Amino acid sequence: MSDLSTSADEHTELADLLRWFVEAGADEAIGDEPIDRLAAVPEPEPRVSNGGKPPLPGAKQPIRPQAPQAELADDKAAIDDARALAAAASNLDDLRNAMAGFAGCPLKATAKNLVFADGNPQAKIMLVGEAPGRDEDIQGLPFVGRSGQLLDRMLASIGLSRETVYISNVLPWRPPGNRTPTPAETAMCLPFILRHIELVGPKVLVCIGGVSAKELFGTKTGITRLRGQWKDFDPAAIGGPAGQTMPAIAMLHPAYLLRQPAQKRLAWRDLLSLKDKMAELGL
Ligand code: URA
Repeated sequence: MSDLSTSADEHTELADLLRWFVEAGADEAIGDEPIDRLAAVPEPEPRVSNGGKPPLPGAKQPIRPQAPQAELADDKAAIDDARALAAAASNLDDLRNAMAGFAGCPLKATAKNLVFADGNPQAKIMLVGEAPGRDEDIQGLPFVGRSGQLLDRMLASIGLSRETVYISNVLPWRPPGNRTPTPAETAMCLPFILRHIELVGPKVLVCIGGVSAKELFGTKTGITRLRGQWKDFDPAAIGGPAGQTMPAIAMLHPAYLLRQPAQKRLAWRDLLSLKDKMAELGL
């Protein structure tokens, strides 16, 4: 066992280091052993056999692929698996169980909880955010932290609440340290949220923030251009089921509004537009 005794100086240094990590945004440990990411990476083995001899001087080393082939194959298998599991779920309980049993997404290993949904599954309005943050991960519910509290106030301003809307996220597991999810992680969670939307069957879809809007609208356009525009959400266009289109709007993420309060006026416009759409549809 390692000697855990530290001198007063070491204590102060460790406390300073910890404070620095927290200020840099690293607010939790995700592994037991530290990884030295600056350590020299061993040269890859040459792909072309040279009869076991070392490469000839001046011979070209093979180019290292972006992601190992095995990883890409694993990602594809995970996406196929997610699609099959999602398609087989015939109700929300089935879907939650299928997601809880899905081992293909690495985010599951670092998350504390699966964050499935909150609100009223019979609601006509469904909101889809990006991914759980720290508070959501701890409580297992979407939008319960500071940005969730702002979201609740935004909804209340047009007469909505968690009794009248249903809320979920594109990703049900928190990315460590709230980092942006990788394309592979998003791709393997997408079949679940598409099936989730299909099973709830809302009349109006609201994408909260850029990640949700880009994924569900199948575009690379940023949120500042997407927000406030009514579109037809068409899951078939992004690999989901056919025959279930609905009006959808993207809004600025409340976490962004907490950092940029001046943008709340745009969010207010979008909320009023949602209210008008509900009136138009008789909701
Ligand atoms: N941000 C999100 O996009 N979703 C949550 O559930 C919480 C914060």
